[in-house]
Amino acid sequence: MTESIIINEVGLRDGLQNQPLFVATADKLRLAEALIAAGVRYIEAASFVHPRAVPQMADGAELSALLPQRSHLHYMALVPNLKGYERARAAGYKKVAVVLASTDTFNLKNIKMTRHEAELACREVIAAARRDGIVVRAYISGACACPYDGPTRVNVVQALSERMLEAGATEISISDTIGAGNPRQIENILTPLVKAHGAEHYNLHLHDTRGQALAMAWAGIECGVRNFDASIGGLGGCPFAPGASGNVATEDLVYMLNEAGFDTGIDWKALRPAVALAEELTGQQLGGRVFQWMRSQELRACAPVPEQA
Ligand code: COA
Ligand code: ZN
Repeated sequence: MTESIIINEVGLRDGLQNQPLFVATADKLRLAEALIAAGVRYIEAASFVHPRAVPQMADGAELSALLPQRSHLHYMALVPNLKGYERARAAGYKKVAVVLASTDTFNLKNIKMTRHEAELACREVIAAARRDGIVVRAYISGACACPYDGPTRVNVVQALSERMLEAGATEISISDTIGAGNPRQIENILTPLVKAHGAEHYNLHLHDTRGQALAMAWAGIECGVRNFDASIGGLGGCPFAPGASGNVATEDLVYMLNEAGFDTGIDWKALRPAVALAEELTGQQLGGRVFQWMRSQELRACAPVPEQA
């Protein structure tokens, strides 16, 4: 039987949060609809952070009220603290994501908390969510390297992951926020965690800054992970992590996994209109390698045939 893989599309949150151009709520909705039309079922739609910190996410509640609601569609929102959690809950989310970065510096830059304070904020959200029957993912950001302090030790990521699971998060997202990792690092991080708790608790959130994301995703597959984040067209970055580029492009990850015999539920070719829309909305040229390849094939097909001598 074909094994299923969850692809959690983060373009609307991680992808857009770094875009200087404000994307209107109705256009964000169009992007969600284009993704859903291609078979996307898991979407991180918004974050409930301070609107001054990330103006692009200020319309989270408005967008959430418009998102199509069907039984196979699953939405998640990122929340940095209890206030954000309350806003996400009021907007109807059944799943939220908290953020715990690997170092004091990164937490301070991102959410104005030390790592200890961030952990307490995460625990506070997790406790409230459990009371409310809301599921929690914990992002361990800067899992391969901190944008400020350099490489992250494997045992630090593992300890933070363990503590978030023990606090009641059901999903841990090992997040290479600045795309600084490599496949061996993923294997080293995940092997003992998966052995101790089972692969079903882990997700990989991989930025493709140095072109390593697909190889790292495959390392995750080898460790048993079946849950990945990706961003349409490779859109993204983090305003608080200098040098971060977008997540692995959804179309490239889906192409690789489908070709390798997994069922993602997504038709990679059908993602093309979503890439075109994301390009239109952000004014950027986007698109993973599979679409670059497809364009080159089309150009070749359109090129005039040279006359025979
Ligand atoms: N949403 C909206 N408003 C919020 C909020 C939230 N999640 N959390 C706090 N606030 C408000 C408070 O109510 C308070 O408002 P007031 O001045 O009207 O009383 C004000 O913000 C200050 O509260 P405080 O708890 O001191 O927040 P802060 O200034 O220390 O900022 C964060 C902390 C976490 C809210 C802010 O740094 C943030 O939103 N960071 C998110 C960064 C991000 O999105 N990174 C990328 C994704 S990981
Ligand atoms: Zn990210």
